[in-house]
Amino acid sequence: MKFFLDTADVKEIREGWNMGLVDGVTTNPSLVAKTGRKFKEVLEEICSFLSGPVSAEVVGIEAEGMVKEGRELAKIHKNIVVKIPLLKEGLKAVRILTQENIRTNVTLCFSSNQALLAAKAGATYISPFIGRLDDQGQVGMDLIRDIKTIYSNYGFKTEILVASIRHPIHILEAAKIGADVATMPFEVLDKLLKHPLTDIGLKKFLDDWKKVPG
Ligand code: G3P
Repeated sequence: MKFFLDTADVKEIREGWNMGLVDGVTTNPSLVAKTGRKFKEVLEEICSFLSGPVSAEVVGIEAEGMVKEGRELAKIHKNIVVKIPLLKEGLKAVRILTQENIRTNVTLCFSSNQALLAAKAGATYISPFIGRLDDQGQVGMDLIRDIKTIYSNYGFKTEILVASIRHPIHILEAAKIGADVATMPFEVLDKLLKHPLTDIGLKKFLDDWKKVPG
């Protein structure tokens, strides 16, 4: 399972990258806005040290505009993946960009049928937002299970990129289903590492070691 960081905060991305556990990055307009920095500048900095896919989202809602933006984003660095919203116009743009060998990440996916359409359009990644489904009383993980079944049934190459992750259980469940990628905030990555019994156990080992002669 690949781990992406879902942030535009370069400090966090550097830290995750240095841990050796991060395979890529996803950003969105809300995450970029939080940085207070220029979009292109943030993308260039991320791509200067991280050698993995970096999703950058378009803001147009017409296919032509999205394709134009996508081409510009793709020129920034070979690792840029163009993130496109799951709209009729978006899927048209995905088809065109795919024909031009520009990778795409179809975002704002909330149903299996939407995921099926994205795969048919040739998306490199599909991003189902599980946390936002949980937030409104649906079981987000059921969507991941269904997409996995559908993509396996037809041999679609589109990778399932589980997004809107809120906590470690989301990662565990997505891994059990066999999702290709999980994109998470830095704090979730950090939580995966921690267990109180590890800390207690380590303290005991180190205390006992002091009793060993020599
Ligand atoms: O980047 C897309 C997605 O992961 C957003 O998550 O927490 O805003 O629902 P969230």
